Amino acid sequence: MLTPSQQVNITLEHIHNHILAAYSAKERAAIQKTEDWKQFSTRLHTYFPTLMWELDSVYGNNEAVLPMLQQLMRMAWQSYAERSAPLKQQDAEREANPDWFLSNKMVGGVCYVDLFAGNLRGIIDSIPYFKELGLTYLHLMPLFKCPEGKSDGGYAVSSYREVNPALGTIEDLRDVAEALREAGITMVVDFIFNHTSNEHEWAKACAAGDPMYDNFYYIFPDRWMPDQYDRTVREIFPDQHPGAFSQLWDGRWVWTTFNSFQWDLNYSNPWVFRAMAGEMMFIANLGVDILRMDAVAFIWKQLGTDCENLPQAHALIRAFNAVMRIAAPSVLFKSEAIVHPDKVVQYIAPNECQLSYNPLQMALLWNTLATRDVNLLQQALTFRHNLPANTGWVNYVRCHDDIGWTFADEDAAHFGINGFNHRQFLNRFYVNRFEGSFARGVPFQDNPNTGDCRISGTCASLVGLEQDDPYAIDRIRLLHSIILSAGGLPLIYLGDEVGTPNDMSYLEDENKQDDSRWAHRPARDCALYEQRNDPSTHAGQIYQGLRQLIELRQSHEGFGGSDLSIFDCKNPHVLGYSRNNSILVLANFSEQEQILSALTFSLLPEQAHDLISNQTIRLDQDVVLQPYQVLWLEVVIDQTAEKAA
Ligand code: GLC
Ligand code: GLC
Repeated sequence: MLTPSQQVNITLEHIHNHILAAYSAKERAAIQKTEDWKQFSTRLHTYFPTLMWELDSVYGNNEAVLPMLQQLMRMAWQSYAERSAPLKQQDAEREANPDWFLSNKMVGGVCYVDLFAGNLRGIIDSIPYFKELGLTYLHLMPLFKCPEGKSDGGYAVSSYREVNPALGTIEDLRDVAEALREAGITMVVDFIFNHTSNEHEWAKACAAGDPMYDNFYYIFPDRWMPDQYDRTVREIFPDQHPGAFSQLWDGRWVWTTFNSFQWDLNYSNPWVFRAMAGEMMFIANLGVDILRMDAVAFIWKQLGTDCENLPQAHALIRAFNAVMRIAAPSVLFKSEAIVHPDKVVQYIAPNECQLSYNPLQMALLWNTLATRDVNLLQQALTFRHNLPANTGWVNYVRCHDDIGWTFADEDAAHFGINGFNHRQFLNRFYVNRFEGSFARGVPFQDNPNTGDCRISGTCASLVGLEQDDPYAIDRIRLLHSIILSAGGLPLIYLGDEVGTPNDMSYLEDENKQDDSRWAHRPARDCALYEQRNDPSTHAGQIYQGLRQLIELRQSHEGFGGSDLSIFDCKNPHVLGYSRNNSILVLANFSEQEQILSALTFSLLPEQAHDLISNQTIRLDQDVVLQPYQVLWLEVVIDQTAEKAA
């Protein structure tokens, strides 16, 4: 009987031979001498065992796995051989520096290509602006071919090898990647691998009964199975359809977690894994640096469960990751899991997703603005922030999606807060149904059956800029000061840096009116961008404030990495934390002046330099923080000995 490692070795040998069998003896000899082959073969030896192990854990002894792997690894070799020289060089550089994305120099932006720049050429033209802002990371929202009309903002992909013609061509996308790389900006695009659009050729072939695409999706003849699954799965867009299924023209039912035109892929079929891995390698070779792994929680279904965050979903992502390490080694994954915080972290690992959205921090920033109490945020930063080496958070104030209150009820209970009631309060607060609220958000998927609701709104509208709340600009700066300093990669939704308000024109567009997330996806407002250097305007004040914070972050290594230690200010309105034993952040989340007792600082030097105000702050006296003021103090923490002496 063979041991597992003997089995892997035999399979590896087999795969090697299979790849080379495509060539004549002479070609084979030549290939084996190339640097490309050496590199590929080394990586294959390192990562193939993982790949096989993960797929084994998902598929057991499904007989399709071996032929699938043979084909996949042949594709991986071709893909690596075709990878451009600059990308191969980058592969080597990043393998040697696996936490490059946690440098203090990293600052991210995200935009829709059409709404921000018209098309892909417009993105190239916007590079001087991206550099002015200080961006080193740019997430371009979905840009592949998608249905006309409704497409969930492009999250329904009809072809991963064609760009949406309104935005440009594949060649344009390659040019964008190259231009961004030359400008020192990494490019991030979505890998939408949980579902395709109903217009994807796989979907059409599967629905038509083409045996090649048999079981590519979950299509059921009647309601029997859908009814079983619907008992336990969550409704994501209940406004669009109750449950997780949509009916086809011929009466059958297809699994659609999101919208009726987004068909979930059936990963219990190993050929679906191979098909998507092929698309992934194609996208990687366009020059993408980071793939945003869309809707990771949903990729595996199992009857009787909520069909989210199942172990097989993790194994599949690790398998995709292993393919990437072999075929396009510098490409990293960013997880998009907007789920319970215990589940969010499970996707984060060097061999799974190296980066992850930080939805808890995002939600708690808004929570803290509403309650003026840092309790939940401080708790989250204490217990849920630090991550394994070579992984990191993407910290954001808001994104293109709604704000959901994904804190853990257990965490809230610790402060005597009832999670359900508190979410009701937050929803009322942010849609301005709570007296005294400064926010002007819009409800999203208000679900009377469950009491669930989420929030749409741009940063400016949610902090009260529209009705000229005197603290709105301070709040924008405060929120961004946290994402820029807390450890991880900060991500700014472009438009927020000039205070763009909600855009309610979506209500007049029949393809958008039932999805309030469009309220916070405004097109670039040229007038606001023109005011960005004029300090007499709101846009100017916001922009200059954020520019300063970005510049400070980028010039102090103390902001790099991801670890953070809480500094308890003994004041419920003030958040404190230190970074890398060199920066102390103090942030007042209320519109009242706050006094921190000198005793709080007894272990610190007598004074410290505040990077933001460029003033010396005495720490041997009480420290007074103005409403919403943030200090970034340069201090060496824990200098107990020095103090005693
Ligand atoms: C992700 C996207 C969201 C989209 C969904 C379906 O959650 O962020 O915008 O609706 O996936 O693709
Ligand atoms: C749900 C999903 C998340 C998606 C969002 C879109 O929260 O978990 O993936 O972004 O819906 O609204």
